[in-house]
Amino acid sequence: MAIGNLAVLGAQWGDEGKGKIVDLLSPSFAVVARSQGGHNAGHTVLVNDDQFVLHLIPSGILHPSVVCVVGNGAVIDIAALFKEIDELSERGIAVDGRLFVSDRAHVILPYHRDVEAAAEASLGANRIGTTSRGIGPSYEDKVGRRGFRVSDLADRRDGSRFAETLKINVERRNRALGDNSLDWRAVREEVNTYWPRLLPFVADTSKLLHEMMCTGRPILFEGAQGAMLDIDHGSYPYVTSSNATIGGVCTGLGIGPGAVDGVLGIAKAYTTRVGAGPFPTELQGELGDQLRQSGSEFGASTGRPRRCGWFDAVSLRYSVRVNGIEGLAITKLDILDQFSEIQICSSYRVGDDVLKDPPANIDLFSECQPVYETFRGWRGEGVTAGVRQEADLPTAARRYLDGVEELVGVPISIISTGSDRDDTIVREESFLTRWLASRS
Ligand code: IMP
Repeated sequence: MAIGNLAVLGAQWGDEGKGKIVDLLSPSFAVVARSQGGHNAGHTVLVNDDQFVLHLIPSGILHPSVVCVVGNGAVIDIAALFKEIDELSERGIAVDGRLFVSDRAHVILPYHRDVEAAAEASLGANRIGTTSRGIGPSYEDKVGRRGFRVSDLADRRDGSRFAETLKINVERRNRALGDNSLDWRAVREEVNTYWPRLLPFVADTSKLLHEMMCTGRPILFEGAQGAMLDIDHGSYPYVTSSNATIGGVCTGLGIGPGAVDGVLGIAKAYTTRVGAGPFPTELQGELGDQLRQSGSEFGASTGRPRRCGWFDAVSLRYSVRVNGIEGLAITKLDILDQFSEIQICSSYRVGDDVLKDPPANIDLFSECQPVYETFRGWRGEGVTAGVRQEADLPTAARRYLDGVEELVGVPISIISTGSDRDDTIVREESFLTRWLASRS
């Protein structure tokens, strides 16, 4: 019998507001588990006017009864992890005994950031616009079979496999940068300081999750980034280095596909992206600025201004397909309150061709022009900001949401109308409500 584990995944280019939705749903789950990415993510959660920005630790940590897991598919900058733990504990949130990091997760070491900076600089105008956290090079070392996993940090002797591989990796870094500025011993010294503090958090998290499932404790799988940034399915090469889609949940946590009982996709009522790459509905000029300013669209991790545009149903349909999304949470509807006319992109046009799906070829993707369906805005009719009952939404806002459902082909389960936990409508008839109710 299904015990009701739910995956909550970004359905756009990241920053969809997953943090708020995970925080909202966390009380219904015993465990929140993160399967991929690193501290490139920035999950912002507002609790009673207190803002928390989590990067690596799952958003479920804000609920004292929830156990949090960072799985083997994530890459971990240990110093950044400690910083996040310290910041939480300074604000009264203790993580001891309920935060677990996979012994098989790869680590980000200081040279990964150096290598990334050099790689980005060498790309010139074609640079990816990464978060500069060393995420990509750490995953490269993983696939290149020269990376270090959390469990390797315990082995720090001279002449050990760890020391020998570290020496080779630092030499590789020095060659790539054309200098000898990094000494492998300095990196080893730094790593030596990590292990004693890290040890209580280290676990075979796949086993832990299996034990949880065997004792009927439901798990929420928290995605990072979004489908269009997925290394396989996203707008390659303008993507992150991990699988932000559903497959990443299984490989990144060591669980079988049968463990995932439902998939909720998170999407903003419009679209944003940070970094370079195709973005067919991007709005340049005043409209884009309006969305950016009123939506506070500046990166939670890097502070970079996000590129903003209208809702893109083409990439959403694709995201639904590759993830098996059954319901959507639409966030930041209130940001559209200011417009008298709103567009949804229903297909792309390239020359005389109309595309219903995002193309694989990146040059073609970059040439895609949006074909829009126009919706009446609700400016002057009312606002959605802070609305907590669907019946109180302006008629035009409800029509817009109907349009999203129709063009994407999946029902909306949750509507978010503000950053506060309570500024949320969970639809009574949604798969999520039925499913949560059936579990209790
Ligand atoms: P990386 O993950 O730092 O390698 O960056 C690769 C691409 O993914 C860049 O365009 C980043 O801006 C983007 N990216 C990475 N993490 C996030 C995120 O959490 N939200 C939005 N974009 C992200």
